[in-house]
Amino acid sequence: MTRQHIHIVRHPLLGSSLTVLRQKNTGTEDFRKHAGIVSKILLVEALKNLRVSRYRIETPLSAAIGVKLKDDVVVVPVLRAGLAMLFAINDFLPQVGVGFVGLERDEQTAIAREYYRKLPRLFKTSTVLVLDPMLATGGSFDDTITILKGKGASKLLLVCIVAAPEGLERIRRKHPGVTVYTAAIDSHLNDRKFIVPGLGDFGDRYFGTV
Ligand code: PRP
Ligand code: URA
Repeated sequence: MTRQHIHIVRHPLLGSSLTVLRQKNTGTEDFRKHAGIVSKILLVEALKNLRVSRYRIETPLSAAIGVKLKDDVVVVPVLRAGLAMLFAINDFLPQVGVGFVGLERDEQTAIAREYYRKLPRLFKTSTVLVLDPMLATGGSFDDTITILKGKGASKLLLVCIVAAPEGLERIRRKHPGVTVYTAAIDSHLNDRKFIVPGLGDFGDRYFGTV
């Protein structure tokens, strides 16, 4: 399903794994496992328009035409929760450049503070995949996109697992050219700026720091 710049990815395996993530009694082991499944499905979908070039190969039986990726891809997980999605992409894009932006939301204000940044060289033509499972107020994605645009990125794809309408609206307003892939758009943010129904604190549940 496509709505403006937002792709809501639908797949039965995605839906059932997201349900496991949402359940409050899911423990760390299952949370990690299903976060991996959800992330892989989302990432495959987000990368489906990558360009390929054709080249000649030999199978054991004959010559054939194969393809290889042509586009330069850079992946930027937003620390810390974005690491869950980086681990998932490693299975099919182990050779890509990886940049890191470390952001942490203040528990009182929900405003993200940057504590780390290390980025590879970015080109206008690079497809930059920004990974963060939760798009709540949109502050973390907004700050990360601003940093990446400042380094020359222009083709930006955001991949999250759950998004709130408030955060999507912020990204649409401030970064209209950016495409978002998500497994779900939830109802709203609560007074602590957590997504409802959401799945709680992704980083704490994934890394077992509750
Ligand atoms: C969480 C989450 C996102 C951010 C989303 O990270 O992983 O990065 O909040 O909220 P926003 O859209 O309102 O900015 P948190 O700051 O808790 O850090 P963590 O990833 O280290 O857990
Ligand atoms: N970060 C999370 O991990 N969960 C939310 O609901 C909002 C921000």
